Amino acid sequence: MTTSTTPDPVRIGVFDSGFGGLTVLRALLPQIPAAEFFYLGDTARLPYGSKSQATVARYAVESAQLLESYGADYIVIACNTASALALDAIRAAAHVPVLGVIETGAESAAAASATRDVLVLATQATVDSHAYARACAAHGLRSIEKACPLLVPLIEEGWIDSPVTREVLRIYLEQAQAEAQAAGLALDTVLLGCTHYPLLRALLQEALPKGITILDSAESTAQRVRQELEQTKPLRAAELGENGTSSAVCHFFATDSVDKFRALGSRFLGRPIEKVELIDLGG
Ligand code: DGL
Repeated sequence: MTTSTTPDPVRIGVFDSGFGGLTVLRALLPQIPAAEFFYLGDTARLPYGSKSQATVARYAVESAQLLESYGADYIVIACNTASALALDAIRAAAHVPVLGVIETGAESAAAASATRDVLVLATQATVDSHAYARACAAHGLRSIEKACPLLVPLIEEGWIDSPVTREVLRIYLEQAQAEAQAAGLALDTVLLGCTHYPLLRALLQEALPKGITILDSAESTAQRVRQELEQTKPLRAAELGENGTSSAVCHFFATDSVDKFRALGSRFLGRPIEKVELIDLGG
């Protein structure tokens, strides 16, 4: 007599300093609809973008280890800052495959840009690391990297359509465009090098000249995760999903204010978040 058992679903751990990585989770859900997702927002220690490499690496390694302790078979760093500053440290500490978002972002820009001149908007730490300049150059792109340190706190407050945010964005873009002009770049693509920024896509569209393509790495990262999982851990048909719907089970963890995470996170994820567990990762 044979018994049939349903294999465990693939477990995917996703983390960011806050809500921003939910833009990546949102893209992952239809790509791998029957996976079990574990999302951590390290909200107590946000923002990562103003911190040193050593601090970001420590925070990011602790986040990855927490996700692994929940059984993650694969970890997605849904944070550009941690991907730029700590990818090697996270890979060295983890026992499962780890994917960052910088390379996939640069690949999307390379596929989209006709002029080969790209503006990257990112946190101060990501800009200072020049991870995007290197990744873009490897694809034959010239880039201007513009730090936008005020955007993450505004987004974490939910001010995604506020006149204050609109004005801050206008000033950043004006400065970046002046820099691009001085360097003789003909920008046709804006790459959102922070996973929080897709939440400002509508404001960006309003503020940028027509004909500029706005990209983020969420979609290309989700596709890469699916491809890599297919190679390393064959996925069942149900996990691959062809119809764009998702029955994925998601578990949410935050290191601060779970009520705020539930309320704002549901808005950013585009589906209700019912339960968020408070986690203490230390200081
Ligand atoms: N969402 C993160 C990123 O993609 C970082 C935001 C922050 O904590 O500064 O860079």
